[in-house]
Amino acid sequence: MNNNAMEKIETVSVDELRSVQLERMKKTLQHAYQNSPVYKKKFDEAGVHPDDFKSLEDLAKFPFTTKKDLRDNYPFGMFAVPQEQIIRIHASSGTTGQPTVVGYTQNDINVWSDVVARSLRAAGLSNKDTIQVSYGYGLFTGGLGAHYGVERLGATVIPMSGGQTERQAQLIHDFKPTALMVTPSYCLNIIEALEKKFGSAKDCSIKTGIFGAEPWTNEMRREIEDRLGINALDIYGLSEVMGPGVAMECLETKDGPTIWEDHFYPEIIHPETGEVLPDGELGELVFTTITKEGMPVIRYRTRDLTRLLPGTARPMRRMDKIVGRSDDMMIIRGVNVFPSQIEEQILHIPQLVPNYQIQICKKGHLDTLHIRAEMRRDVSETLTPQIAALLKAQIKTMVGISVMVEILPEGSLPRSEGKAQRVFDIRKSA
Ligand code: DLL
Repeated sequence: MNNNAMEKIETVSVDELRSVQLERMKKTLQHAYQNSPVYKKKFDEAGVHPDDFKSLEDLAKFPFTTKKDLRDNYPFGMFAVPQEQIIRIHASSGTTGQPTVVGYTQNDINVWSDVVARSLRAAGLSNKDTIQVSYGYGLFTGGLGAHYGVERLGATVIPMSGGQTERQAQLIHDFKPTALMVTPSYCLNIIEALEKKFGSAKDCSIKTGIFGAEPWTNEMRREIEDRLGINALDIYGLSEVMGPGVAMECLETKDGPTIWEDHFYPEIIHPETGEVLPDGELGELVFTTITKEGMPVIRYRTRDLTRLLPGTARPMRRMDKIVGRSDDMMIIRGVNVFPSQIEEQILHIPQLVPNYQIQICKKGHLDTLHIRAEMRRDVSETLTPQIAALLKAQIKTMVGISVMVEILPEGSLPRSEGKAQRVFDIRKSA
C-alpha cells in the first residue's frame, strides 16, 4: 500500500494552524528564556519577557538572532538543553569565518525526519520509491537530513552522498532509483555523466528530483526537467533552523515551497529597518522554530530574500523562489544584481551550457562583471562571437548593466559536486 496520505495538520483551517502556532510559540519563548543564557540576556536587554507574548503579532517585540550570535557563542553556547540530551551535531562550512554549530535532541531528529518525510510525500513519493541521496553526508545537513526522512517515509534510500559523479550515473543505471535528492548544479553534472555513459539521461528510472541547498531559477528547472524527463521540485532549508525540509514545493501546484509552519514560523522583514512587512512584499526571511528543543532560534535572520505567499495546496503559506541572499547581491555601478538574473539570461540561449561563473572585477575605477559561460559541444565554434554578443545584449536589456562575456568550449569550467560557487570577487587579487 502507498503511504502518501497527508498529516492532519496539512488539512486544518488557517485559524486552527494559527492557534497551534500561538501555543507552540509561547512554549518556545519560555524554553529559550529559561534554558538559554544567550536568550535570557537578549530578551532582558530588549526589555521583553515571554509573558509579553499574547498574540502572534507580539513576536515583533522580540529581538532578532543573527549568524553573529551563533559565532559569538561557538561552539555550543546556543544550546538550551544539557549536553547529554544532544544526540547530533551539524555545522555549516564556515567559508566566511567561524562555522556555525547546531545541536539536536532525539525529539528534534524525530521532527526533522517527519518534516522531510512529509516533504517527500508532498513530492508524490511513498514507501514504494527508491531515493538516491546525493547531498553530501557529514556536518552538512543535506545528506543525513534527507536520509532520515527517506527512512521515515519507509522508502528505500541509496546513501550515495556527493562526488564520484561517474559512479552516481552507474548506480542510477543499475539500482534504478525513482527519485534523486541533490543540489540542482550537481544534478546537471550527473546528467552530463549519464548522457556521456549511456547516450541519454531522459530514459533513466528517475521520475522526481528534490532540489535545494542553493538558489536556482525556473529556467534551470525547465532545463533539468527536459534533460532528465522528470518533475523537478524545490526543497528549502537551513542548518540554523533545522536543515532540508523547512519548506517543500508540492507536486500538485509546483508554485514555490510550502513552509511547514507548524514547526517553523516565518516573517518577512525590511532588511535595513527590521520592520515586519506584510505578506506578498519582498524582504528578508526570518524564522522562529516553534518545536525545537536542542537549539531553538527566535527570529533568525536568514539573509534570504523572498516573499510570503498564501497557501495553495496546503493551509501553510508558501515562499517565492529565493531571489538571492543579501550577501550575494552585487552592486554594479549602482544597479543591484543577483547571480540568478545572470543565470536566467544564460539559460535563455539554447547554444549555451547551464554552467557559468561570474567574476567581479575592476575596470578603471568601476566595478564590472565578467561572465564566463560554455558553448555546447554540438554548436559550431564560428558562432562564438555572435553568442557572446547576444548574451551581452540580453544582460544589458534585462538586467540593465554592461558586462564582459567570455564563451568557452563545453567542459572548460569546474563542475559542482554540491553547492556551486558562481561568484568570484577578483577585485583585490587583480
Ligand atoms: O543548504 C540545507 C539544505 C540541504 C536545504 C539540502 C535543501 C536541501 P545550509 O548549508 O545551512 O543548509 O544553507 C542554507 O542555502 O539560507 C539559502 O541561502 C540556501 N538554500 C537552501 N535551500 C534553498 C533553495 C542547507 N531551495 C542556505 N533555494 C539558505 C534557494 C536555498 N536557496
